[in-house]
Amino acid sequence: EKGGYDYFMLKEIAEQPKAVADTLLGRIDRAGSLSLDEVRIPASVLREVDKVVIVACGTAFHAGLIAKYAIEHWTRMPCEVELASEFRYRDPILDPRTLVVAISQSGETMDTLMALRHAREQGAKVLAICNTNGSTIPRESDAVLYTHAGPEVAVASTKAFLTQLVACYLVALYLGQVRGTKWGDEISAVIHELSDIAQEVERVLATMEPVRELARTLADKNTVLFLGRHVGYPVALEGALKLKELAYMHAEGFAAGELKHGPIALIEEDLPVVVVVPSPRGRSVLHDKIVSNIQEIRARGARTIVIAEEGDEAVLPYADHLIRIPATPTLLQPLVSTVPLQVFACELATARGNEVDQPRNLAKSVTVE
Ligand code: F6R
Repeated sequence: EKGGYDYFMLKEIAEQPKAVADTLLGRIDRAGSLSLDEVRIPASVLREVDKVVIVACGTAFHAGLIAKYAIEHWTRMPCEVELASEFRYRDPILDPRTLVVAISQSGETMDTLMALRHAREQGAKVLAICNTNGSTIPRESDAVLYTHAGPEVAVASTKAFLTQLVACYLVALYLGQVRGTKWGDEISAVIHELSDIAQEVERVLATMEPVRELARTLADKNTVLFLGRHVGYPVALEGALKLKELAYMHAEGFAAGELKHGPIALIEEDLPVVVVVPSPRGRSVLHDKIVSNIQEIRARGARTIVIAEEGDEAVLPYADHLIRIPATPTLLQPLVSTVPLQVFACELATARGNEVDQPRNLAKSVTVE
């Protein structure tokens, strides 16, 4: 049942191109616009929405953080993202014009369920993004957009995360489409790019051997740091979470711009630091800033592991290890940049003799608060 792989996690990492393609299937029509008929919230209601609030836990929360960049850019509506476990305890401001998006692979996470119940009690509409048919969270929501990742067995989430991202992009683009923002042209271009993205994920998977080799050389380290900016920041958080869960190592993700506000004090000789570099084409200012961050940490002895787009030459002088990813539109980059981080954590866990599919102390679905 592991399909020839040693672990479910490896199988699920390998299934990502299909999972991504399946989640897009039937949701983009021939004219290149979105047809999300399954979102039963009428377009007239979606046009009245004035704020989006995303609630989720763990990896699904990281998908939500990325969704915020997409939703705010493509719809020009404010979007908040909150850990489901914090949400209802702070008396959040919700009303019938708030669209709450609850993201959950299992559909049974108690924190997320309690957050959406609270939101509905305040009159907000709830849209679930979920991977498990008929589970509690979609049953209790006003509408659901299913991710089609297929069953995810390994405790650490991989293919579910990528499909959550796809679903979030679809929701963002759909909101843009029904509300008619000035980004119309960009939206159709992105829908086009999104429909080709599974191939790009496939290309990344084909180049992962050096990442595995690198991971094995780091098995005796205590700490790994992850830096990113813009949508690369949640990717850094996700890379760190995967490493904690699987390799039981101290790992932290930071927004690269925060370095000089504290974290740079952690940099010491030979400390592995993974840096997710934004595209030099899109928001080039961010790209240049992160290149100087890499330069700064390397000057202080860090061992830099740089994830950068093909053709990005500016990183070459400062990368001790370079992991190439295909060029994508800025907002879609997490679909390709997360993959090496999953492979990295999985291989490090194996090198440390850990049980990859069943990390200690963790359960696949957390049904208590
Ligand atoms: C991380 C992981 C957890 C889950 C979190 C939410 O690899 O698996 O952080 O993402 O427990 O679970 P769901 O998505 O089922 O609500």
